[in-house]
Amino acid sequence: MSRWLRRVLCWSVLLLAPTRAWTQLSTSDHLADPGFWPTQPARYRTEYVGDAACAQCHTSIAASSRQTQMAHALLPASASDALQTHPNLSFLFQRYRYQIATKDSVANYSVSDGAHVLHAQLLWAFGVGRVGQTYLYKRPDGQFYEARATYFPSLQGLNFTPGRALTAPSSLEDAMERRVETSEVVRCFSCHATGAILGSSLQETSMVPGVHCEACHAPGAKHVAAMQRLMAGKSSSPKLEIFNPAQLMPEDSMDFCGACHATWWDAKLSGTHGPASTRAPAYRLEGSRCWISTYDARLTCTTCHDPHVPLQTNPLAYDAHCLNCHAKTAGTKPTAQHPGAACPISTSRCTTCHMPKVYVPEMHSDFTDHRIRIARQGEPFPE
Ligand code: HEC
Ligand code: HEC
Ligand code: HEC
Ligand code: HEC
Ligand code: HEC
Ligand code: HEC
Ligand code: HEC
Repeated sequence: MSRWLRRVLCWSVLLLAPTRAWTQLSTSDHLADPGFWPTQPARYRTEYVGDAACAQCHTSIAASSRQTQMAHALLPASASDALQTHPNLSFLFQRYRYQIATKDSVANYSVSDGAHVLHAQLLWAFGVGRVGQTYLYKRPDGQFYEARATYFPSLQGLNFTPGRALTAPSSLEDAMERRVETSEVVRCFSCHATGAILGSSLQETSMVPGVHCEACHAPGAKHVAAMQRLMAGKSSSPKLEIFNPAQLMPEDSMDFCGACHATWWDAKLSGTHGPASTRAPAYRLEGSRCWISTYDARLTCTTCHDPHVPLQTNPLAYDAHCLNCHAKTAGTKPTAQHPGAACPISTSRCTTCHMPKVYVPEMHSDFTDHRIRIARQGEPFPE
């Protein structure tokens, strides 16, 4: 669907259902626009200065950002804690035996069918391992392959990589790995690393693994130079030369995080459904009755999440965001400022009941359902 058609469609939805509309775009639509957008390839390597430069002036943001999982979304397999602390991993499937043996920071992946064994040395570990860690490596032909075995902390062991389970492998190679085409490699690294893609090629040596300042704020060389001149009194230009997502409209702000976490349209177009769709928070959130308007800044990702600090796991911390719209005392009449009714059950820890955790089988773990709702015991997963 063209971007134009989508806008028209969105506007007609807006006219038909003014309270439940969305004007979000897909990530490829945003990337086609001029200007910066996350996952956009770099033009020049020298545009990037790295977190250490930002830390000189934004000390506390830099210090807390270092603790986030996003900052560690990718690492060399040789630096993987999961592998270092589990030096002998294995899992059996039919006659195939999968193993990852780690010694002296070398992670050796092997698959055997009883008669033959194939080996590869793991190169990149994707995911800090809250949920899982998936590995990529290269064959001598320079091509990337994805290991069919992933490490899951919930299992303290290996199982099939999400979405890549097999029922009947056609060969030992098929059992072991999946070849990852260059176009997909580029996408993986765009979301899990910073400054990874120059033009259309992967920069394995100069990229910074993980999601860092310049993945969200655009390359910073110009900003640093401008701020140094400003602070040295050599310039009075008010131009900051950096992308600040705080200036985005609420609808675009959701799409901004959605560049990596999927926008409403990304999820829709990919046909995601069932519990796995909880991995697309924007899609679920926009399906809630709370999502009253794309122009209401009280319910965007950054309302509840500060991307510069680790995920808040204390439910009390989220209450204020709900009470921005919902009345606290039962019987209070909804107003334009407080369009949401009060809860007849509780006045705190709202998310524990209304944003339930949903088990996603292929991830062997729970994800938070961002579709805010009255969750009933035993109900089918609401699509
Ligand atoms: C030499 C000091 C300096 C360095 C280095 C620096 N900044 Fe800044 N930055 C500033 C100042 C000064 C401001 C404007 C005042 C403020 O908002 O704190 C600013 C503002 C910003 C803003 C808000 C812009 C806005 O529109 O309000 C962002 C985002 C930002 N910086 C990100 C970065 C990133 C990312 C880096 C590293 C690539 C970086 N800064 C490096 C000094 C610096
Ligand atoms: C450049 C891609 C990218 C962008 C942009 C991005 N994220 Fe992420 N985010 C990731 C990746 C990759 C992970 C998985 C990290 C991991 O666990 O390895 C993640 C994980 C998270 C987590 C889970 C952290 C945890 O402790 O489990 C939260 C919360 C999050 N992101 C919020 C946001 C918000 C809010 C925004 C928008 C302001 C955003 N992200 C934008 C790539 C991105
Ligand atoms: C469009 C952006 C995007 C692409 C492309 C992408 N990822 Fe991710 N990935 C994310 C985000 C965002 C998360 C965190 C939320 C989640 O787990 O759904 C994540 C999470 C993960 C996790 C789980 C990490 C954890 O939280 O424990 C693994 C493993 C992973 N990705 C591997 C890969 C691999 C391997 C590829 C390429 C074959 C890839 N990803 C491509 C954005 C992306
Ligand atoms: C995952 C995306 C992401 C990453 C990574 C990230 N930021 Fe931000 N940053 C944001 C968003 C979103 C905002 C706007 C928050 C808001 O709406 O209030 C922001 C705002 C800012 C601001 C302006 C603060 C203000 O109060 O206006 C500064 C300065 C900043 N970031 C610096 C940094 C620095 C330095 C780093 C790296 C150490 C960094 N950011 C990493 C997404 C990110
Ligand atoms: C932008 C304003 C806004 C925010 C923020 C908001 N809500 Fe709502 N919510 C509404 C509106 C409007 C409705 C529909 C009217 C009603 O039922 O009160 C609603 C409906 C609900 C419902 C009833 C859903 C149903 O299916 O009947 C629940 C439960 C709920 N909200 C809980 C929450 C919780 C918990 C939070 C915080 C995590 C929250 N809301 C944040 C505006 C909001
Ligand atoms: C109304 C508050 C609220 C909003 C808005 C919100 N989140 Fe969350 N999010 C939460 C809560 C609560 C958790 C669970 C925290 C915990 O684990 O205790 C969570 C968890 C997450 C996680 C960790 C993985 C998981 O599923 O548990 C990611 C990633 C995430 N949110 C991304 C986003 C993105 C992207 C957006 C915007 C589309 C967003 N969130 C909007 C409240 C919110
Ligand atoms: C212990 C679980 C629990 C907690 C905590 C909780 N709720 Fe509820 N909430 C419920 C249940 C159950 C219902 C459905 C009541 C019914 O329909 O009988 C409900 C109903 C609601 C409704 C619909 C009310 C209506 O009249 O349509 C809203 C809105 C709501 N809750 C918001 C919140 C907010 C905001 C918070 C935090 C301040 C919160 N809830 C905390 C369990 C909880």
